[in-house]
Amino acid sequence: MNEKDIYKGIPLDKIPWKRETPPDILINTIKSLVSSPSHLLDLGCGLGHYAAYFAQNGYKVSGIDISQIAVSHANQLFGIKNLKGDFYELDLCKTTNITLPPIELAYEFEVLHHIYPEYRKMYVQNVRKLLSEGGYYLSICFSKKDQNFGGEGKYRKTPIGTELYFSSVEEIQDLMSQYFRILEIKEVELEGKTIPHQAIFCLMQKSKF
Ligand SMILES: C[S@@+](CC[C@H](N)C(=O)[O-])C[C@H]1O[C@@H](n2cnc3c(N)ncnc32)[C@H](O)[C@@H]1O
Repeated sequence: MNEKDIYKGIPLDKIPWKRETPPDILINTIKSLVSSPSHLLDLGCGLGHYAAYFAQNGYKVSGIDISQIAVSHANQLFGIKNLKGDFYELDLCKTTNITLPPIELAYEFEVLHHIYPEYRKMYVQNVRKLLSEGGYYLSICFSKKDQNFGGEGKYRKTPIGTELYFSSVEEIQDLMSQYFRILEIKEVELEGKTIPHQAIFCLMQKSKF
């Protein structure tokens, strides 16, 4: 986990993952599982553009991010677009007592590779706590099969000075199956700004085991 605010010192238009519209894989998966006005939770929501897309499509949205800069941008974006949404500055790897309205689906896009393995149990336990019974959890994070980005191996340095952890399907499966029922897990290719990324798509449901 990178403790510092990764948005500090980067002009917003230079942020590598900044995109105004969510990727099709996120839109299509979410729309196929829950219809508006279900409540979505955007974990590691970043600048709030994906949350804004779903709010514009009739969903209720909340977002959580560890970065003060990201949360303040998301709030500002919602203000400009006259949208409703709640954003929380929070480290999902620490114990939290926040209570949210019932969440039907929580998603995280390109977030878990920022969380090192030793912090992941706490992160996933928090997600489970925030999600309604029967709610869905969609996680999409970088795969160690990626050969285009940051070299090889699990820990890889990026051009903006972060060090990310690239997972295997088995690791994600072992972690998530302790807390969720896994509905689908697979390797997928994501469009990147400059190069495509190999990622792990894991769709889960919170249910009593
Ligand atoms: C690569 S960005 C992706 C942002 C957004 N999901 C998107 O796709 O545009 C990763 C995000 O995860 C957030 N993040 C990293 N560690 C976190 C943590 N422990 N708790 C909450 N958010 C975290 C970062 O601040 C950053 O906004």
